[in-house]
Amino acid sequence: MPASDFDQLMMRRALDLARLGTGFTRPNPLVGCVITHEGRIIGEGWHRQYGGPHAEVNAVAAVTEPHLLLRSRVYVTLEPCSHFGKTPPCADLLIEKQVAEVVICNLDPNPLVAGRGIQKLRDVGIQVETGVLEAEGRWLNRRFFTLQEQQRPYVVLKWAETADGYLAGPYFQPVPISGELARVAVHQWRSEEQAILVGTRTALHDNPRLNVREWSGPDPLRLVIDKNLSLPPTHHLFDGSQPTVVYTYRERAARPGVEYVMLSEAEDLFPQILRHLAQRNVQSVLVEGGPTVLTSLLKDGLWDEARVIRAPHRLGGGVPAPHLGLAGLHEQFPLGEDTVFVYRRP
Ligand SMILES: NC(=O)c1ccc[n+]([C@@H]2O[C@H](COP(=O)([O-])OP(=O)(O)OC[C@H]3O[C@@H](n4cnc5c(N)ncnc54)[C@H](OP(=O)(O)O)[C@@H]3O)[C@@H](O)[C@H]2O)c1
Repeated sequence: MPASDFDQLMMRRALDLARLGTGFTRPNPLVGCVITHEGRIIGEGWHRQYGGPHAEVNAVAAVTEPHLLLRSRVYVTLEPCSHFGKTPPCADLLIEKQVAEVVICNLDPNPLVAGRGIQKLRDVGIQVETGVLEAEGRWLNRRFFTLQEQQRPYVVLKWAETADGYLAGPYFQPVPISGELARVAVHQWRSEEQAILVGTRTALHDNPRLNVREWSGPDPLRLVIDKNLSLPPTHHLFDGSQPTVVYTYRERAARPGVEYVMLSEAEDLFPQILRHLAQRNVQSVLVEGGPTVLTSLLKDGLWDEARVIRAPHRLGGGVPAPHLGLAGLHEQFPLGEDTVFVYRRP
């Protein structure tokens, strides 16, 4: 049965609340919860940070007239958990509060727990509906679902290119390409992903800091490929200001803030890197180039989203950017004098 307009409105509100936890709940998903009574919201909450109370707990705590819970309708963006983790099961809480109905956006992707929270609720007579705004919920938690279902982080590729398709000057000379607003957006994107990766030559020529300076939010885990440990130790990536992982073929002991992860030369690079990140529960990685790394991930289909910032000016020559064409183009929008093209893997 299609969800009513009211159900969709409440679930949209719950998804908006869930979004407020962005960057703080991983490796947990973003979850929001809205509790209504006779068409009126009586409590709201979201999962604010990893290890903290779940959305349902916060929403129940926000209800100032607890007797209304008895006949309430609860909207929650992810199936209430049925097992003891860092907190007691949310399904038990809803049962204890004797809520009347529960409306769910997405099921728990873990096959060992999927459906169990719902079953627990139904077993005591609570009416449960599922799948309301399911696609929106999957999009919101795309990093979480990708890690759970594909055992690899969600991969966002990002680059800036000139109007004639170059992303660096001749001989890898870094040149300013995007404008002020795009730079702020990139810092926001950095704060939204758990890790950030660059290739050897980008690290060498651009000497990036890969932190969040022009936005408020957590710094990502820095990742760099340096097979032969050729990068100068004086570069920003090794300043110990932020955890950094170096993927290499050579052995080297860790130093403050820098960990060296040995990879096998017998196996392709990126499947090993993504596997290592999944083992660490890293949900997402922003890849900031350069073109060799980007092209390799594109060719292997190891990406989910690409954000291309196209500047209005031409360079006339240099290092060409990867070409995506129109396949997978999802949206485009202006950002100052630049245009951002967002692709999703077709
Ligand atoms: N405009 C932008 O958005 C942007 C962003 C980033 C960078 N850039 C520019 O891009 C230029 C650097 O790009 P680049 O393509 O030369 O270098 P890069 O992608 O930064 O690094 C390339 C290196 O990474 C390793 N690598 C990448 N993919 C690999 C794979 N599949 N298997 C094994 N090794 C792999 C290789 O290391 P080995 O050589 O050790 O084998 C390769 O040489 C710089 O000029 C920088 O300014 C522009």
